[in-house]
Amino acid sequence: MAIRKIARMGHPILAKPAKPVADPTAPHIRALVDDMIETMHDAPGIGLAAPQIYVPLRVVIFYMPQHRVDAGEEAVPLTVLVNPVITPLSDEKIGQWEACLSVPDLRGLVPRWEHIRYGGYGLDGKWFEREARGKHAGVVQHECDHIEGQLYPQRMTNLADLVFQSEFKYRENPELAKAVLKEKA
Ligand code: NI
Repeated sequence: MAIRKIARMGHPILAKPAKPVADPTAPHIRALVDDMIETMHDAPGIGLAAPQIYVPLRVVIFYMPQHRVDAGEEAVPLTVLVNPVITPLSDEKIGQWEACLSVPDLRGLVPRWEHIRYGGYGLDGKWFEREARGKHAGVVQHECDHIEGQLYPQRMTNLADLVFQSEFKYRENPELAKAVLKEKA
């Protein structure tokens, strides 16, 4: 196991579609996933795609602790998806605030399908599927975009909603933004 360097926005590896994995049970795929898990926890983050550590293969990992999922939704255990596929289950998209280890210090409001089904191969070579809503669905879409060569700013519809993490407090609490404006006036 090793902590790998994380590619940052602008590196061509992040802009290219990744290749399908021929054998999800191959030892080199398990070794890749071990490194992805260690790298994700070290960063720290809740998701990572293989191209983010310079490996152009269709492998993503993610998890969601209880405090990160929507109210009423269950925490998501560490999940490995090889050659994943997403199917939207509703026409509705909702805005989600996202961050990305390849786009440090920023956050953006991104339209995402509210309800999806996703599937992929596990390291045991078995296909499995889940349904997801809200933030869980958003994380899966974010990670799967990485293997299509898409970063979240490319999905945004209004770049006025791209902000530094340190200034995000003004979006969570508009009153704070008003107070600051008053101070400056
Ligand atoms: Ni990302």
